[in-house]
Amino acid sequence: MRISIVGTGYVGLVSGACLAEKGHNVICVDVDKDKVDQINAGRCPIYEEGLESLVTRNVGTRLSATSDLAAAVQDTEITLIAVGTPFDGVAIDTGYIEAASREIGEAIRDKDTFHAVIIKSTVVPGTTDETATPILEMASGKKAGKDFGVGMNPEFLREGVAIPDFMKPDRIVYGATDERTFALLDNVYSVFEGVDIIRTSNKTAEMIKYTANSLLATLISFSNEIGNLCTGLGDIDVVDVMKGVHLDRRLSPILESGDRVVPSITTFIEAGCGFGGSCFPKDVKALIAHGQAAGQQMNLLQSVIDINRAQPMQVISLLKKHFDSLSGLKVAVMGLAFKPGTDDMRESPSIPIVRALHDEGAVISAYDPVAIEEAQKVFTGIDINYASSIEDAVQNADAVVVVTIWDEFRSLPEIIGKLTTPPLLIDGRRMIDKNAVPRYDGIGMTSRSKGP
Ligand code: UDX
Repeated sequence: MRISIVGTGYVGLVSGACLAEKGHNVICVDVDKDKVDQINAGRCPIYEEGLESLVTRNVGTRLSATSDLAAAVQDTEITLIAVGTPFDGVAIDTGYIEAASREIGEAIRDKDTFHAVIIKSTVVPGTTDETATPILEMASGKKAGKDFGVGMNPEFLREGVAIPDFMKPDRIVYGATDERTFALLDNVYSVFEGVDIIRTSNKTAEMIKYTANSLLATLISFSNEIGNLCTGLGDIDVVDVMKGVHLDRRLSPILESGDRVVPSITTFIEAGCGFGGSCFPKDVKALIAHGQAAGQQMNLLQSVIDINRAQPMQVISLLKKHFDSLSGLKVAVMGLAFKPGTDDMRESPSIPIVRALHDEGAVISAYDPVAIEEAQKVFTGIDINYASSIEDAVQNADAVVVVTIWDEFRSLPEIIGKLTTPPLLIDGRRMIDKNAVPRYDGIGMTSRSKGP
């Protein structure tokens, strides 16, 4: 099939490269000529594991890029819109969706054959039908569902594993206004064999995306609240509690053979110092705002956000439990990115933690395997000694704080074990065995030791 994709950001370029790899002919469209040139030269303007090799392999054959949206619409049967939808605190900003819809509509005006326009960006329920469709109709002078089609096809990519997520999706969800658009979407996704497909309305497709992210965020805040209660009550460890909880066969089913399936959802019921990233915080807040605007109070999701906003400060409280003052205290922060496998700092719990340490007068060293460059842009004006290794960061530290669940931090007990004065380890992710270091404290447990 001939597919055009507007926006070569994270979702757009991953989708474009993967759909080309799957055998479709894809034209990526972006107003940024520099990005267009990079793609056409086989280079990748963003970092995502495995993406550049897909771009290099397909460019010049099934993948190309252009700034000419009208020509791309003429040359293809279907256009996916994958532009940004930032959240400004009140509502998502659909300005880019509106601009793209206007331009695509104008191109459809001059087109004789049926064309389908699919919103792939994350948009609140109603946006495709109530915002994009009227603009497309106005700009084209044609009727949606009759002269051209409109659909909605949310993306469920996780950063760092976006390529495998796209190539082997959990499910494919799409809505459409009419059967011809459904048939075109069926064709796009016919190359994904054996995947569950949900064909639904545009509004339901939009809601599925927000609901999926809201559920996962809710599980994280739920676990964090329970963890905080374990700390408050004393002598209960949230790790033991959650182990007992996830052995419920509805969470980890027992097969006939007697073996237990351990679904990855169980990692979402582990306590930690909070979630971050470009999706969970933004999507949950946008759904709350959208619900409120519709007269529906979103009390549960508001609590999910409130708990998450406060959660990084648990790490600071733990430090204060052990040290009378943080002023002059040497603290090594382990991990700055919002999750492992990425240098993305957006909404990372490390941001409020480092800022609080700075405000309290701590002497900060920090280590992250890939995110230091990004972190330097965030922490301007804060004096941080960016270390080049774990050893370097923990040298002379009074306390070590684990923020990101990078696998290499599992070597911390060994590294700390070699130091003459072992620092206190504050485990913000409960990833280290609490008995493996001389002095340990973490989210969701009780440590009686006080003082250096
Ligand atoms: C998320 C959704 O997973 C994805 O489906 C959606 O399309 C975009 O948002 P992403 O933000 O890339 O993807 O990362 P994800 O791996 O889901 O992590 C989000 C946050 O949850 C991170 O802060 C992470 O630390 C936390 N998390 C993730 C957990 O606490 N436990 C986990 O098991 C996984």
